Amino acid sequence: MTEAAAEGLAKGLRPVVRPRRLRTTPALRRMVAETSLEARQLVLPLFVREGIDAPAPISSMPGVVQHSRSSLLGAVAEAAELGLGGVMLFGIPGSKDATGSGAIDPAGVLNLAITDVVAEVGDALTVMSDLCLDEFTDHGHCGLLTPDGRVDNDRTLERYAEMALAQADAGVDMVGPSGMMDGQVGVVRAALDAAGHTDVSVLAYSAKYASAFFGPFREAVDSSLVGDRRTYQQDPANGVEGVREALLDVEQGADLVMVKPALSYLDVVRRVRDAVDVPVAAYNVSGEYAMLEAAAAQGWIDREPAILESLVSIRRAGADIVLTYWAAEAARLLRR
Ligand code: PBG
Repeated sequence: MTEAAAEGLAKGLRPVVRPRRLRTTPALRRMVAETSLEARQLVLPLFVREGIDAPAPISSMPGVVQHSRSSLLGAVAEAAELGLGGVMLFGIPGSKDATGSGAIDPAGVLNLAITDVVAEVGDALTVMSDLCLDEFTDHGHCGLLTPDGRVDNDRTLERYAEMALAQADAGVDMVGPSGMMDGQVGVVRAALDAAGHTDVSVLAYSAKYASAFFGPFREAVDSSLVGDRRTYQQDPANGVEGVREALLDVEQGADLVMVKPALSYLDVVRRVRDAVDVPVAAYNVSGEYAMLEAAAAQGWIDREPAILESLVSIRRAGADIVLTYWAAEAARLLRR
């Protein structure tokens, strides 16, 4: 080696710029962390099933249950104690029919649960409810069907308006229209306002994809869906369209917008975050939960760090709020 070459090599062996310096100690890493993960940013989805006395496990979602009306209250009290941002309630009625009548019945399981939960936690949590028909219809679709079996957008909107009123009358803080019907946010906002519920906010499931990662949720709500939701939920191939849906929802009065699922759609979360001026939520869905739990149960992945890494990644992508079945556990881990 020539002298010049040796000198060059020696320089190369002593880099001047060393990003590793800022990773030296836990305190330094904590100080320069770009993204925070806090309990208040997490929302816990909860299932309540009509006609059961004790929680029923959901086999494809180990650790998650269908609650009875009374066990639900223990779960929300714990969520409040942990300082979570809120809970998102899903109801599973005792009987389903073609128009999802249980969804608008004031004595329907979800509407009763809303009143119970609000009485239990008061203002300590934001109480949210899923505003969709699929848990309540015997065909499992998110809307009403035409005689030839297609999902009828505009007749479904009328039903969503009634459902919004039933949930608001039950005392909910925030409704989450999740059926991907065109115009759903506008009709829900108008119905709430016309009835004087101007303070009830709307979390729009804006960019919701026709995803295989909702699989375990179908078991969670005893869904009898045959076929798929591709005529209303978005094609996983589309990102620009996700932004378009979010912008339309903001125009129609959405207070927050959501991207769903989360982990396979982090680019959409980022694009939506950059495009709107309202808080953005992302839903870490049932299949994402099931995958990690299954791998952890096999000993193939280190469960707790993988949970926290997933959640902080969703935040880093741009979500202000994360809906996750790990919300309570993550809040406990963050306290340590
Ligand atoms: C619709 C709804 C679904 C989920 C939340 N709201 C199912 C669907 O649209 O197919 C899925 C949530 C999850 O998979 O965790 N009511």
